[in-house]
Amino acid sequence: MIASSHTPLLYIETYGCQMNVNDSEVVASVMREHGYATCSAAENADLALINTCSIRENAELRVWRRLAELRALKRKNPRLMLGVIGCMAERLKEKLLEQEQAVDLVVGPDAYRELPNLVSMARAGQKGVNVELSREETYAEIAPVRYESNGVSAFVSIMRGCNNACSYCVVPYTRGAERSRSEQSILREVQALIDSGYKEVTLLGQNVNSYRMYADDGKTVACSFAQLLEKVALLSPEMRVRFSTSHPKDMSDEALHVIAQYRNICKSIHLPAQSGSARMLKLMNRKYTREEYLERIAAIRSILPTCSISTDLIAGFCTETEDDHRQTLSLMREAAYDFAFMFMYSERPNTKAARRYADDVPEEVKARRLSEIIALQGELSLKSKQQYVGKPVEVLAEGFSKKSQELLFGRTSQNMVAVFPRGSRSAGDYLTVVPTRCTPATLIAE
Ligand code: 5AD
Ligand code: SF4
Repeated sequence: MIASSHTPLLYIETYGCQMNVNDSEVVASVMREHGYATCSAAENADLALINTCSIRENAELRVWRRLAELRALKRKNPRLMLGVIGCMAERLKEKLLEQEQAVDLVVGPDAYRELPNLVSMARAGQKGVNVELSREETYAEIAPVRYESNGVSAFVSIMRGCNNACSYCVVPYTRGAERSRSEQSILREVQALIDSGYKEVTLLGQNVNSYRMYADDGKTVACSFAQLLEKVALLSPEMRVRFSTSHPKDMSDEALHVIAQYRNICKSIHLPAQSGSARMLKLMNRKYTREEYLERIAAIRSILPTCSISTDLIAGFCTETEDDHRQTLSLMREAAYDFAFMFMYSERPNTKAARRYADDVPEEVKARRLSEIIALQGELSLKSKQQYVGKPVEVLAEGFSKKSQELLFGRTSQNMVAVFPRGSRSAGDYLTVVPTRCTPATLIAE
């Protein structure tokens, strides 16, 4: 029968963080078990899913625009099932289920195992909806299908959810409470990646430093983040290990010493500060002071002298003054960040900040402060790259550079992108290059 010989095709489009990228791979795995293959154009798909992000209003606006395009596609091809999954599904279920959105499925981050059932319901003419959050779900034994992978580096989720209550942040509401995935299942997944030739793994979680497995008594810590990191690093010296994201309040010296001890644990730490002002940090409920944050930076510099440090910064949070803003600029200089993600504050409905504080910094002031932060980071990033010019650095090649098939790009342990002539090398090779010049974003070897 022709009808039954057709393999149904799944198209997934992913917005937001690395965690979402890995979740899409879990979704591809769940649907593959159910007979679906992935495809790279929505036009060919039987099922199109958008894995969404709610972190800032802009992220949501992009998805609404894209959804309008996919609806137009669905009008031409009524067999196409259209689903919204991830953080926006969790936050905006009602709005997504309104008739005019024409969405067939709305599935939150903890309900992906249910997708096949929900798709069947949708095929039968009902809406497929599940936005329940879970205290246990970690998708531990689901092997992610890395359908867009370069075959060199992979994400592995080690925990889900978040127990920090940063007042600006929507994540605890969209992704629920923090839970860690069993170390055995993490180690099995990394081993499988090693066996299939991967060379780099990034351990993911909203707050990886609070990773914890308990012994049977439920009290004794059987595996901390530092211990997990060590076990992963020991699997193969050829496998680089990265991790993200670290909350400054949980970044322990124990973890820093493990990073120091293993050559294959990359010397690069993402330590979001958000602001340099003690008053802002308190309003943000970050649970550290400026001094405590700088003490962590000092610990990194002393235990890991070659480590790069990156950060996230928010400009124009509620009641931020020019003086608070200057504190952020001065923190940036003191920390001498190698890299930063920088954002304007975007009020998210129902967060503590939205309920309690006025979003009172005018948009143009937010924009001006952000541009000052970006300009300063440009200088710092350039200085950071310049220290590597003329010195040999080890890179792991990841693929062709955007500019030319004669050039490869890769990353140093410090997570700096390097571009170099291909020679006889290919993706997945380790090699040493000597950068001859740099931009704020890239080391260039000629
Ligand atoms: N507005 C702007 N930026 C935000 N972030 C999180 N919530 C918001 C918000 N409401 C930023 C933080 C976080 C990063 C992932 O996104 O800097 O570390
Ligand atoms: Fe990731 Fe947060 Fe965006 Fe959800 S809201 S996709 S957790 S960045």
